[in-house]
Amino acid sequence: MKEMEIIGGTWTIGEWHWGKVEEKDAIETVEVFLDRYKFVDTAPIYGFGRSERIIGKVLPNFKRKDIKIMTKFGLITDEKGEFFFKSEYKGEEVSVYKNADRQSIKEECKKSLERLKTDYIDIYLLHFKPSSPSLTEIAETLEELKQEGLIKKWGVCNVNTGDLNLLVKNNFKPYCLQFKYNPLFTKPEKSVIPYCRKYKIKFYAFSLFERGFLTGKYMKNNFEKEDNRRFIKNEQLEKIKELTEKMKSIASKYDITVPQLILTYMKIKEIDGIITGARTKKQAKENIDKIDLDLKENDLKILEKTFREFKI
Ligand SMILES: NC(=O)c1ccc[n+]([C@@H]2O[C@H](COP(=O)([O-])OP(=O)(O)OC[C@H]3O[C@@H](n4cnc5c(N)ncnc54)[C@H](OP(=O)(O)O)[C@@H]3O)[C@@H](O)[C@H]2O)c1
Repeated sequence: MKEMEIIGGTWTIGEWHWGKVEEKDAIETVEVFLDRYKFVDTAPIYGFGRSERIIGKVLPNFKRKDIKIMTKFGLITDEKGEFFFKSEYKGEEVSVYKNADRQSIKEECKKSLERLKTDYIDIYLLHFKPSSPSLTEIAETLEELKQEGLIKKWGVCNVNTGDLNLLVKNNFKPYCLQFKYNPLFTKPEKSVIPYCRKYKIKFYAFSLFERGFLTGKYMKNNFEKEDNRRFIKNEQLEKIKELTEKMKSIASKYDITVPQLILTYMKIKEIDGIITGARTKKQAKENIDKIDLDLKENDLKILEKTFREFKI
């Protein structure tokens, strides 16, 4: 089976969209990511700098060359660029703008480096594509950052095959693509994943647990006011619970948990990496342990069928 990178996702510990996470828990979670995963994904927008700052606090305890840091640019809050959406953070309204102008990328990169307390970013990603500048112009700025030694590699998130093709045809091959992919959201299998395989662009999947819902642990919608998951209906949670019960019966045969089963299952998809979010060190440890098991053919078939037939 293809070797798959396991990447620690730090959106949750930024708090924005996820509710309160104590600083101690955030630090301990990142400690596990850096110690065990050696690879961490973040973005300036995750807690408007908090997630990157927490990484910056922990990073000096590790050898920089042993750690890979992937962060992003292109979403800012200082009213320059293309309005994207309104949100709330710690009781304050925030407006988010897409901006990937040359100057803005360079300023964002400088700020990320300061927060992360490092002098280079391993992989720098466009978070969401703006209407302008074009992807090729954005790629030119990223190549400049590479020349300046501030980033090692660059990639993109949330773009389609046509966008990737535009870059590839203009000799700007991204190192990787980050895209949502999980047992219930398999759309990328149609064209994005095959395209990445063909052109050797690494495919890194996120939302493996569908923002935690697939773990089946939420009995009722008790999400906090600023938690983006608060829109789920209790009836939907009931249905997910049924799905998780089926997963539990298979997981128990292997003495693993439902999150571990999901990750084990996704490993057979032979993609390049999976980014798993965690709120605590316990979750972060669980998501890297016992995920190398071989599932029996029959259990795989049951899982495939269960996921395929699941409707919410
Ligand atoms: N490029 C992009 O546009 C993009 C978009 C989304 C995500 N991402 C990246 O991908 C990462 C992961 O995706 P995601 O944030 O959508 O979330 P996810 O990984 O699907 O879910 C994360 C949540 O699942 C729950 N969880 C995780 N491990 C668990 C365990 N072992 N036991 C029980 N519950 C567990 C936690 O929920 P509780 O908090 O309720 O405990 C955690 O906050 C992000 O952190 C981010 O780095 C990138």
